[in-house]
Amino acid sequence: MKFEREINRRRTFAIISHPDAGKTTLTEKLLLFGGAIQTAGAVKSNKIKKHATSDFMEIERQRGISVATSVMTFEYNDHLINLLDTPGHKDFAEDTYRTLTAVDSVILVVDSVNGVEDQTRKLMEVCRMRDTPVIVFVNKMDRDGKNPFDLIDEIEKELNISLHPMTWPINSGKDFKGVYNLDTQSLLLFDAHTKATDHTVHINHLDDAILDKSIGEKDAAQLREDVELINAVHGELHVEEYLDAKKAPLFFGSAVNNFGVKEMLDTFIRIAPKPRSRPTSKRTVDVGEDKFSGFIFKIHANLDPKHRDRIAFMRVCSGRFQRNTYYKHVRLEKDIRFSNPYSFLARSKDIIEDAYPGDVVGLFDTGNFKIGDTLTEGESFFFTGIPTFSPEIFKELINKDPMKTKQLEKGISQLTDEGVAQLFTQFGGNKKIIGCVGELQFEVIQYRLLQEYGAACEFRSLPFYKACWLTAEKKETLDTFLRFKQQNAAEDKDGLPVYLAQSEWFLQTEISNNKDITFHFTSEVHK
Ligand code: G4P
Repeated sequence: MKFEREINRRRTFAIISHPDAGKTTLTEKLLLFGGAIQTAGAVKSNKIKKHATSDFMEIERQRGISVATSVMTFEYNDHLINLLDTPGHKDFAEDTYRTLTAVDSVILVVDSVNGVEDQTRKLMEVCRMRDTPVIVFVNKMDRDGKNPFDLIDEIEKELNISLHPMTWPINSGKDFKGVYNLDTQSLLLFDAHTKATDHTVHINHLDDAILDKSIGEKDAAQLREDVELINAVHGELHVEEYLDAKKAPLFFGSAVNNFGVKEMLDTFIRIAPKPRSRPTSKRTVDVGEDKFSGFIFKIHANLDPKHRDRIAFMRVCSGRFQRNTYYKHVRLEKDIRFSNPYSFLARSKDIIEDAYPGDVVGLFDTGNFKIGDTLTEGESFFFTGIPTFSPEIFKELINKDPMKTKQLEKGISQLTDEGVAQLFTQFGGNKKIIGCVGELQFEVIQYRLLQEYGAACEFRSLPFYKACWLTAEKKETLDTFLRFKQQNAAEDKDGLPVYLAQSEWFLQTEISNNKDITFHFTSEVHK
């Protein structure tokens, strides 16, 4: 394999969590370990505050800053780590889903007090769909959290994953004494006052008297009992099971105290998947192939009128990407080259000469790209597995200025290419329906259509809650259904038929009444 060394040392992943569980804090600690930042607090100032009002301009301003943190690349123990940021605000969840298509694994942060929360469920669903290997970090052990066995139960049941404890906590809250590393059989002691990160006690055996001395007889007895139980149930971690997304290694710690983070990072480096081969519309592209290929998973438009640029984020899937080299834009069937591609090493944007599988490259875009676009060294295929998920809010787009119809159409087409929202056209009519994950997106669209395209619009709420993509063996079956259900039928931007359901009840009824039609809950961007 030509670029074997570069491929083998790369780890590309994302941290996901419900807002407030500690994603930003954990990110910051990882960057500190990687030497990418020197002071705590550096990441915090860039994050989209979840307490932000519904003032989307403020969020956009922060999002603008956060372009630099969209990908954080750092070195740790001879590995090159690409940490892809996911927006904390739930209205940008669609962005997060897409980012998950560009990573090889995920670290899921769960708050020990709140357990599994809404966003956690949704994000895990996306991971499960793609069989993404997951490591779970239970955070905030310094607070009075749930019993760890109950937590395991809750996470396994609610998220439908099977956990494998790697460390085990000794109490929580003010009685939190640390964690026992089941793998290395060592004890990491927690001291809330000194916040020491290297207070490790090696014990030869759980019966070792040092254990009683270190954490007291009562807690030592409890730990022995817990560990015996865990070992009996779980045994050793089989890395293959983790890589196949069948088992999720579980760590306990406290991100804000930088406690238990290094244990997780060291394990992550050891077991997390390196960039892997990926499916395309034509064949599986092997990560070790000589020829370059990659796909666009995110487009970031700058709302600042002085810098009206777009950045397309491309994940390299095979070969070597090189600056100033012509590559084939498969959808447009044209060759383009990039004179200023940049990477995100040490959090500053640097022009790069080349990039390898697992890397994310920022490409200046003047409107050539849409989400899911593939670049190659000449071959025609599309990377698959970059699905569109159903929006959650649907509104009719109403043109307020008929003189600007063209501008409105162009604007909405470009914004939907960027992935700001999804566009559906009512079946047999021309009612334009916009679907988003969050209310905020509608504000963004209205603002941008006016500012960038001079088109005024408003929205009228529609009573839909989910979009399902439809397929059937016979075209007539589908046509008849669509005609019959005109009020609920639409086409997506690629002309694919979609059923818009008012409620779960309606959806289930249609599914059971139309056995010869398949209702899909996601759509591939390219088929
Ligand atoms: P997020 O990105 O997932 O939204 O969470 P973030 O890291 O911002 O953490 C949310 C809050 O939880 C922060 O407090 C953070 O300091 C706190 N936190 C993170 N890890 C731990 C932990 O291990 N233990 C405890 N007790 N708290 C933790 P905040 O008050 O919202 O922000 P700040 O004022 O501390 O910046």
